[in-house]
Amino acid sequence: AADASDAADAADAADGDVIKIGFAQVGHESDWRTASTNSAQSIFSAENGYDLQFVDCDQDSAVQLEAVRGFIEQDVDYIIIDPIVSTGWDTVLTECEEAGIPVIVIDRTIDDSDKYISWVGSNFKNEGLAAGEWLKAYTDAKGISDVNVLVIEGTTGASAQIGRTDGFKEIADANGWNILDSQTGDFTQAGGQEVMESYIKSYEGQFNVVVCQNDNEAFGAIDAIHAAGKTCGPDGDIIVVSFDSVKAAFESMIAGDLNATFECNPLHGPRVAEIIQKLEKGEEVEKIQYVDEAYFDTSMDLEEILKTRAY
Ligand code: AHR
Repeated sequence: AADASDAADAADAADGDVIKIGFAQVGHESDWRTASTNSAQSIFSAENGYDLQFVDCDQDSAVQLEAVRGFIEQDVDYIIIDPIVSTGWDTVLTECEEAGIPVIVIDRTIDDSDKYISWVGSNFKNEGLAAGEWLKAYTDAKGISDVNVLVIEGTTGASAQIGRTDGFKEIADANGWNILDSQTGDFTQAGGQEVMESYIKSYEGQFNVVVCQNDNEAFGAIDAIHAAGKTCGPDGDIIVVSFDSVKAAFESMIAGDLNATFECNPLHGPRVAEIIQKLEKGEEVEKIQYVDEAYFDTSMDLEEILKTRAY
C-alpha cells in the first residue's frame, strides 16, 4: 500500500509539472495561419512539458468564446487567444480573471478589454502605411500618376483588417489616390478570387492596383486576373500588393505575378513560451510586445531570401 501511495504521489508531482495550455486559434484560413499553428504546436509539446488543448475556431467568434469557456472548465494553467475580431471580449476575459487563469493574446489585438496579461504581435497599421509608402515610391518611379485601387480586405472586425485598412487609406488620402472599392475576402484564397472576379466585372478598365490584405487573397485574385485574360506583376497592367510574406508569396513574385508583400510574423510559439516561463518563475512580463517586420518586392534577390524563409 505504501508503494502504491508513493507511486500516486509521484504521478501527482509529475502531473503538477506539466503546464496545461488552452489555445483558441482563429482557424486554418491561410498559409500564415498554418505557420502560426505549427509554431504553437511544436513548442507546446509533451516533450517540452506542456499539455496543449488546441481549438481551431474556423473563423467563428461564437466558437472561439465557447472554446475559452471550455478551457476555464478544464482549469488550464494558461489560455492563449488569437482573437478573430477585436471586440466582444470583456465578459469572457472577466470569467478567466475570476477563475485565476492568465490570458496571453497573440497576433490580433483585443480592443475592448485589458484583462489579459500580455499581447505579442504585429503593428497592422504600420504594415498598411508601409504598403502605401511602397506604392507611392513604385508609382512615382514608373511615372504612374493616376492610381486607382481596389482593396480586398481581411475578416471584418479583425484588428489585422482594421489596421491595414487604416494605414493604407492614410497614404492613399494623402496622395489623392482613388479607392474604387474595398470588400472582404475573409483572408482566404477562395474569398480573394471571388471578390476579384466581381471587381473585374464591375470595374473593367478602371483600376491599376489591387491591394489584398493577405497573401492567400492575392493568390486567388491573381488567378481571377489571369482567368480574365489580364496581366499583373512588375511587367503586367495591374500592380498587386499583399501582406504576410509566406513562402508561396515569394514564388508568386519570382513568377512575376505579385509585386510586393509586407511581412506579418506568425512565429509566436517561442515568444509565448518565454512569457509563460517568466510567469512560472514569478517574473514580470511586458504587457505589449511588437515584433519587427520587413517587406519584400521584385527588386530583391528573392531566390536567395526564399532559401532562409522559415514559413
Ligand atoms: O491575423 C493575421 C492575419 O490572419 C494574416 O495576415 C492572415 O493571413 C491571417 O488569416
